[in-house]
Amino acid sequence: MNAACPSSCPFVLPRPELSGTPGLVRRLAAGPAGGQDYDETKRNMLKLLVLAGIAGAAGGGLTGGSLQYAQPPIVGIANFPRVQLLDLDGSALTSAKIAGEYTVETNDVILFNYPLRNEPNFLLNLSPPKGGTGGASNVQGGVGPNKSIVAYSAICQHLGCPAPNISYYPPGTCPATPGGQSFYIHCTCHGSTYDVTNGASNLTGPAVLPLPQVVLEWNQSDDTIWATGMTPNSPPVNGHFSTLTGDYAVGSQSQLTKQQPIHQCDTF
Ligand code: FES
Repeated sequence: MNAACPSSCPFVLPRPELSGTPGLVRRLAAGPAGGQDYDETKRNMLKLLVLAGIAGAAGGGLTGGSLQYAQPPIVGIANFPRVQLLDLDGSALTSAKIAGEYTVETNDVILFNYPLRNEPNFLLNLSPPKGGTGGASNVQGGVGPNKSIVAYSAICQHLGCPAPNISYYPPGTCPATPGGQSFYIHCTCHGSTYDVTNGASNLTGPAVLPLPQVVLEWNQSDDTIWATGMTPNSPPVNGHFSTLTGDYAVGSQSQLTKQQPIHQCDTF
């Protein structure tokens, strides 16, 4: 306080015009309403809303950028896992069980998911029934005593029709292909045909890529069957940027499922 001006110093003058309810700002006498109160909190909120509207209208790029970071992350896995296959009843799948349950003549669609939950694969045993003839052994990537157990993606490499629209055709189901193959995988959507004895290479189009082939492992010590990867020349599973991205991993085990096939004979 300035003691030299006790009566004129503005700091000690009585200021009745400054008294009032905390949080409210009073317009002083010079104002048009002669001292009308208004709520500063509401006024500031209005300013914020106006500024947000201007930012939204003029900052489309900013909004888009913000939404970009709101996208869910791409799910997937870093490496191919080693997954044990289980039979339809949940027991460990063995080559002995496969030989007894599935042969080149099996009509049902036998599937397991690998490496992701939304990536189904055919499990095929190309050996004939016990004592029978035909079928194939020592095929590319085949495992088991006859190297006849193989697995291929059950999603067509043309436009992605899944099983059972794409199904395995046992011998005699439909006419043989031009190359004389009597059992094959065929897609009813547009007619692509794949050679199950040769890495699911293309027998007829319009697909131009083979079906991705699962690398199987036969553990001879306990006869179990495992999936451990995809062959190096396999394209990505159709609909996936990479076979390792697009869903969550199946886990440490994957159980077989069964579907009824859809068969449609085409004129090759
Ligand atoms: S999606 Fe299979 S042939 Fe077209």
